[in-house]
Amino acid sequence: MSVDSVFRTRSLGVAAEGLPDQYADGKAAKVWELYIGDTQSRTQEYKSWVVSLLRDNGVRRVLDVACGTGVDSIMLVEEGFDVVSVDASDKMLKYALKSRWERRKEAAFDQWVIEEANWLTLPEDIPKPGDGFDAVICLGNSFAHLPDFKGDQSDQKLALQNIASMVRPGGILIIDHRNYDYILETGRAPQGKNIYYKSDLTQDIATSVLWVNNKPHMITLDYTIYVPKASLHSLPEVSKFRLSYYPHRLESFKQLMSEAFHGKLEHQVYGDFKSYSQARRRRRHATSSTSAGRRPESQTRSSSPLGQNPSVCSELLDHVSSL
Ligand SMILES: C[S@@+](CC[C@H](N)C(=O)[O-])C[C@H]1O[C@@H](n2cnc3c(N)ncnc32)[C@H](O)[C@@H]1O
Repeated sequence: MSVDSVFRTRSLGVAAEGLPDQYADGKAAKVWELYIGDTQSRTQEYKSWVVSLLRDNGVRRVLDVACGTGVDSIMLVEEGFDVVSVDASDKMLKYALKSRWERRKEAAFDQWVIEEANWLTLPEDIPKPGDGFDAVICLGNSFAHLPDFKGDQSDQKLALQNIASMVRPGGILIIDHRNYDYILETGRAPQGKNIYYKSDLTQDIATSVLWVNNKPHMITLDYTIYVPKASLHSLPEVSKFRLSYYPHRLESFKQLMSEAFHGKLEHQVYGDFKSYSQARRRRRHATSSTSAGRRPESQTRSSSPLGQNPSVCSELLDHVSSL
């Protein structure tokens, strides 16, 4: 694969408000649920963690700012939360809207609010209830989709500020992304299944890293998914899609979060929804029972710099309490 074929502008499309919608060509959206695998087994991995955290914090109203096809929102609607779900991509929202329609006779689904919205214009796109939502979630490595075309992270700062502005004082924000420190260190995204994407159908994830002025600027992942006969319909047997991400390093992301909340926050970092020791034990077991050859995973708390802790998990999760 030539460098040009990786780093030319491709299939970014243009969504409302000029945001590059990487899902605009519909390729990823069409196979998204196949890529995720069984949604029940995906959400089982973290449902009790998320739901207990929300319940322990007295959360009722939740805003999912990157609902995509609706996997996490549906999990929370089923658990009785009042959910508002937004996403910038109509191609992804289409699937969430379809689920709401199919389950419209259930009161909780009838009341589920789904809107198109962009993090860069969030306060204009959706009304904020009172002081804000009790909790805002942004799961599935979504935030890293926002590129830094201006080179000063100003769009990412604006987006995080807008997202933070939706959290009521005392409320919480859960936001996660891949462990980019690990990817930059090894040059490769972990292959195979991970917490969010559990399908057996993923054949390959090719990783390209673009460095600009000696700084990692963009990571492009080329996914190849095998589509089983039963799901073929209009899909090719081997489906390929490409997504690009800004590689947020943990330390600089913590700084962005702090700025977004004007320093009024408590911030905890988890690895794969586990505390440090649990995650490490679990991955040790996984390493010895599979041939994936992955490094032991770990969890980093905001007080310990990742540099001291380079063997890491696949997803880093930031849990922020607004003060
Ligand atoms: C990786 S998908 C994850 C979707 C879902 N949370 C999941 O885990 O399946 C990322 C989602 O973020 C959305 N997204 C990316 N940039 C956005 C923006 N600026 N505003 C709103 N949504 C955005 C995309 O449209 C996409 O649906």
